[in-house]
Amino acid sequence: MAKRIQFRAHGGPEVLEYVDYQPAEPGSKEVRVTNKAIGLNFIDTYYRSGLYPPPSLPSGVGSEGAGVVEAVGSEVTRFKIGDRVAYGSGPLGAYSEVHVLPEANLVKLPDAISFEQAAGVMLKGLTVQYLLRQTYELKGGETILFHAAAGGVGSLACQWARALGVKLIGTVSSAEKAALAKANGAWATIDYSHENVAQRVLELTDGKKVPVVYDGVGKDTWLTSLDCAAPRGLVVSFGNASGAVDGVNLGILAGKGSLYVTRPTLGSYANNAENLQRMADELFEMIISGKLTVNISQRYPLADAAKAQTELSARRTTGSVVLLP
Ligand SMILES: NC(=O)c1ccc[n+]([C@@H]2O[C@H](COP(=O)([O-])OP(=O)(O)OC[C@H]3O[C@@H](n4cnc5c(N)ncnc54)[C@H](OP(=O)(O)O)[C@@H]3O)[C@@H](O)[C@H]2O)c1
Repeated sequence: MAKRIQFRAHGGPEVLEYVDYQPAEPGSKEVRVTNKAIGLNFIDTYYRSGLYPPPSLPSGVGSEGAGVVEAVGSEVTRFKIGDRVAYGSGPLGAYSEVHVLPEANLVKLPDAISFEQAAGVMLKGLTVQYLLRQTYELKGGETILFHAAAGGVGSLACQWARALGVKLIGTVSSAEKAALAKANGAWATIDYSHENVAQRVLELTDGKKVPVVYDGVGKDTWLTSLDCAAPRGLVVSFGNASGAVDGVNLGILAGKGSLYVTRPTLGSYANNAENLQRMADELFEMIISGKLTVNISQRYPLADAAKAQTELSARRTTGSVVLLP
């Protein structure tokens, strides 16, 4: 038997239960991992609330973690018992002492990276890899806008942008978060609790606006994001922290200057073992070379996952948060 967090019905953090469960034997192409650290992500709250439907109920929670291989299926070729591994793209159920995953979803964890660092960076860091290096391939010298720059994804984006020689303008909701984003490498910050974001972007770019806006806040920032993109610029709507963007009239993209919009997911970039490993190699190299630091701001026992999700939803976390089994 092992412990895990699960929910039987959708709702607030109170639906999360800490229960005993019997981990499955790994299938022929699966690996069973003893989790050493687990990552907390906004997407975990979408599955819990029902914004994203889980495959079935009761459902496990969480998509990111790191640990040690304890069993492998008969056709597994890349991993053996005792290997240090990490994952960031599900399946749901990472909030557990033991998790079973397809071999294709795992990467080997270099010895130089701790389990906590890996659990704090796999989902968020791979996301930053594809956002900055694939969705819009930044070359250096660009000025970009990134919302929620002090959050988990945002903190890594600030550092990665600085390493690329990109001027990242980060939005935040407080002076403390602005200072944190600056310390992580943001070139400028805008506090959207009291500043007009579009106006400030115009000022900061001498009226040019930006070629790419990264928006994980969603509903509350969508129209502002369109206003900040230069003509023929790209708005990358990659999350729903304030609610989902819906009812979009495509004509608005014409009116704002032939804009492009994409709604990407990590799963469609890290869509096979080869692409996942290539993205993870680049991420790990950024960490090992000292260009990227994984800031773990809070640690919770696995049993307190509901408390951790409450803090995340209330905007009281910064950087990465991990759960410890
Ligand atoms: N598409 C993908 O592949 C992908 C992958 C990973 C993450 N994501 C998305 O990226 C975003 C960031 O994820 P994360 O896990 O790193 O979370 P996070 O950024 O640590 O937390 C969300 C942040 O959003 C901001 N926010 C603005 N309005 C909010 C509201 N009404 N309620 C709550 N937060 C609000 C808050 O920062 P301020 O207080 O500074 O506003 C908050 O700290 C999420 O939308 C997530 O779904 C997408």
